[in-house]
Amino acid sequence: MAMQREAGVQDFVLLDQVNMEKFMDNLRKRFQVGSIYTYIGEVCVSMNPYRQMNIYGPETIRKYKGRELFENAPHVFAIADAAYRVLKQRQQDTCILISGESGAGKTEASKIIMKYIAAVTNAQGQNEIERVKNVLIQSNAILETFGNAKTNRNDNSSRFGKYMDIEFDYKADPVGGIITNYLLEKSRVVQQQPGERNFHSFYQLLRGANDNELRQYDLQKETGKYHYLNQGSMDILTEKSDYKGTCNAFKTLGFTADEVHTIWRTIAAILHLGNVEFQTIEDELVISNKQHLQSTAKLLQVTESELSQALTKRVIAAGGNVMQKDHNATQAEYGKDALAKAIYDRLFTWIISRINRAILFRGSKNQARFNSVIGVLDIYGFEIFDSNSFEQFCINYCNEKLQQLFIELVLKQEQEEYQREGIEWTNIDYFNNKIICDLIEQPHKGIIAILDEACLSVGNVTDDTLLGAMDKNLSKHPHYTSRQLKPTDKELKHREDFRITHYAGDVIYNIKGFIEKNKDTLYQDFKRLLHNSKDINMSEMWPEGAQDIKKTTKRPLTAGTLFQKSMADLVVTLLKKEPFYVRCIKPNDIKSSTVFDEERVQHQVRYLGLLENVRVRRAGFVNRQRYDKFLLRYKMISQYTWPNFRAGSDRDGVRVLIEEKGFAQDVKYGHTKIFIRSPRTLFALEQQRNEMIPHIVTLLQKQVRGWIARRNYKKIKAAVTIMRAYKTYKLRSYVQELANRFRNAKQTRDYGKSIQWPQPPLAGRKAEAKLHRIFDFWRANMILRKYPRSEWPQLRLQIIAVTALAGRRPYWGQQRKWLGDYLANSMDNSGYEAYSTNVRKLKSSTPSGELFRQVLFSAFAKKFNKHNKQAERAFIITDTTIHKLDGIKKKFRDMNHTIAIKDLTSISVTPGRDQLIVFHSPDNNDLVFALQGETSTLKEDRIGEVVGIVCKKYYDATNTELRVNVGSNIACRLGEKPKTIVVEGAANVETPNFRHASGNIIFEVPSSYCV
Ligand SMILES: Nc1ncnc2c1ncn2[C@@H]1O[C@H](COP(=O)(O)OP(=O)(O)OP(=O)(O)O)[C@@H](O)[C@H]1O
Ligand SMILES: [Mg+2]
Repeated sequence: MAMQREAGVQDFVLLDQVNMEKFMDNLRKRFQVGSIYTYIGEVCVSMNPYRQMNIYGPETIRKYKGRELFENAPHVFAIADAAYRVLKQRQQDTCILISGESGAGKTEASKIIMKYIAAVTNAQGQNEIERVKNVLIQSNAILETFGNAKTNRNDNSSRFGKYMDIEFDYKADPVGGIITNYLLEKSRVVQQQPGERNFHSFYQLLRGANDNELRQYDLQKETGKYHYLNQGSMDILTEKSDYKGTCNAFKTLGFTADEVHTIWRTIAAILHLGNVEFQTIEDELVISNKQHLQSTAKLLQVTESELSQALTKRVIAAGGNVMQKDHNATQAEYGKDALAKAIYDRLFTWIISRINRAILFRGSKNQARFNSVIGVLDIYGFEIFDSNSFEQFCINYCNEKLQQLFIELVLKQEQEEYQREGIEWTNIDYFNNKIICDLIEQPHKGIIAILDEACLSVGNVTDDTLLGAMDKNLSKHPHYTSRQLKPTDKELKHREDFRITHYAGDVIYNIKGFIEKNKDTLYQDFKRLLHNSKDINMSEMWPEGAQDIKKTTKRPLTAGTLFQKSMADLVVTLLKKEPFYVRCIKPNDIKSSTVFDEERVQHQVRYLGLLENVRVRRAGFVNRQRYDKFLLRYKMISQYTWPNFRAGSDRDGVRVLIEEKGFAQDVKYGHTKIFIRSPRTLFALEQQRNEMIPHIVTLLQKQVRGWIARRNYKKIKAAVTIMRAYKTYKLRSYVQELANRFRNAKQTRDYGKSIQWPQPPLAGRKAEAKLHRIFDFWRANMILRKYPRSEWPQLRLQIIAVTALAGRRPYWGQQRKWLGDYLANSMDNSGYEAYSTNVRKLKSSTPSGELFRQVLFSAFAKKFNKHNKQAERAFIITDTTIHKLDGIKKKFRDMNHTIAIKDLTSISVTPGRDQLIVFHSPDNNDLVFALQGETSTLKEDRIGEVVGIVCKKYYDATNTELRVNVGSNIACRLGEKPKTIVVEGAANVETPNFRHASGNIIFEVPSSYCV
């Protein structure tokens, strides 16, 4: 970036003397070194440099971002940033009012401001915000194409007023906008002053579109061929490339191809319409050059005959009848031009409505509540032409209104406030232009009212009679005069001119055309014609054409009144916002970057009221705030006021804070507000506040985090309660369902065994297992209750036995009563006493009966041993062991061949009726017994009983099932030798016997024992 050498003072407030000479010196000096911006406090005075300045790039933007005004050299960026900061920090709407005469640089300034705002926002790079910014910037290209024209003062003069609200969300990112347009100078469409041109759009189409496109529109490249263009300048500007820019902007803004076609077709239609000529042949008005008529009709998408009718005749509804009346040539010419102007005007307004549709805020209604706006006003500057008409009258009136606003806000209100607040103050004189505003707008008496009255009167009211009425009513007004009132003034044309002494200078207006332009009539026929166009966009621009011809319509408001109303609305809008000013000055009329035209510049400085502005500013204060607001904003920077000031009023609190911080010299205390003189103090306060904010944020975060955690905890607790309730509910439902299903289980044959259990809830798995057990117990109980309780132990053993032998041994003594300890019974054992004595001995041979507690079974048995001998023995089964005892003759002595039940590897029995049982032991010395009576074979089967007892005890001890083998051949080991016991039935055998045969053991039984 080229270094700017700062010349003079950066703020006119710092001048050593405030007078015109010093002011001009400073302005000149700065202009000559290229310092085009200078402040008056927060007002930015901007000189048009008429050359490209290298002061708008990203480097500069960075320098100004978030900075106070006085921190950098004056720049319009700083104003934009100040407006943006107010919006961001205080959610206060702001506006930037750009004023100055034509060519002073208003539109350029407005574009610079928008680019700055676009550059400093959307840190997160959100797509929608990028789109909005792009659309806002691109909309300028379209507005300038259709609303700007080359004038003698400015090659790119805005011929309409523009106010744009840029809307920001709570993060201060632009999310939308809306453009309001004011009074387009539509007379330019049909006529231009020498050296000026029509709106850029016409030249862009002719010079930018390709041959193919032009052919579609029946157009030729030469601008000279078109009446609406060839009266003015034929200068060529940059329209060729601008046309492409416009087309791209249409695309960016989402205009449809149809809409773009409508637009260019309409422009072409206006050019053709301008070339339509009328001729009177034998008292009849005819159109002489039909091809232009045809093209116009084609492009407007209406029929040629309807268009021709509307141009040459007029339909009148009178007393319920509809009649046609021919135009004369003058009326037809007037009608044609009025049509061309109206079409262009409607097109322009319609284009703006389309742009608004693209940039309108798209968020929700809720969000909109928090949105703030920055308004940017770029409106036509004060104009004095050689010949000034109704348009200049309106434009200059607008400037009067804005000057009034400036006076109200900057000069008047400020001074009044000092007085109201009891601040010492010497009044500064300034010219209040309210008197001129009144001259124009006062009800009944003002120029607009007189004009309206003339337009409303029936009969032949001419511009001449209008001037007469004005003279009559306004003769005493100090700012109004005319030749009739001041006959010596040769400058004014007799019965044509009147002069208004505007705040910015004298302007002579020519009354010709005032009535017509104010009435702004367009024959109803044209409205109907265009409403009926096949082009729906065109039709949409003319809604009132739908009205019934016979219906008397209310007279539309005049152009003057409409303009006055729109100005009043604008002022209301602006008054709600905090204003920032850019006052543009044009250094010369020849667009030179070096010439400083003293007279022209001084004139502008004077009428912009800049000197008064400096005086008020110098005496004044940069900032004032209500005590309560001030305290709220800065209380955190003083120990006396944080968190609350309790030692008096807000005013006392503010005083304590200011004194503690050492700013007492720079402030004054009003009745309700504190006034701060210099920006530095305000800046220092802000800076200290900013330093404190992080601590406060931490504190708040702490609170909020605590609150969030507590809230979460409550949520979790609530969830747990809900879960618990839900679990209980599920369990209850499950139990309920169980109860339902098993309600009649007792009555069923299988006691509910076949009833399907419902699926338990996740939380009911354990409960289900328990319930199953309970159910099993219950069911067992139900089954068993038929048997006396004393039989239950036997039943139990029988169930074990039958389970172990199931299907493999049909005989297992199920029919009889199982007595267990048979040898203790005199019926079975004649030596039962000796047996009992010995068993008692055996039991007590170990301390506290560790060996066993109880004999569960005993029997006589034939035993086969490892020496291949059989012997008469007995054995007992206790709760833990199996003992081999000597036979009856030897009084049942223990033979020390004991196997612990838990150590058994399996037991084997045969499928037949014999009483053979083998206890397989781990030490490979199995016990092989054939049960028998004391003296004879057993009459009953006791094998099942043995199996039941041994299996149960084995299970009790090991929790696993003991393997039970059933087979006619039993493999066993005796003295470590593997042997096979083969059961053989023999017809002549009565008592079962073992015998040894070729390594195996034959167990001979009566053949009836075999299966
Ligand atoms: N900051 C600037 N830097 C360079 N050139 C500028 C600057 N401001 C204005 N100009 C030049 O001055 C010309 C006129 O400026 P601009 O169109 O902004 O005037 P205006 O005040 O909007 O006039 P009007 O009231 O006619 O619309 C621009 O086309 C440009 O050439
Ligand atoms: Mg402009």
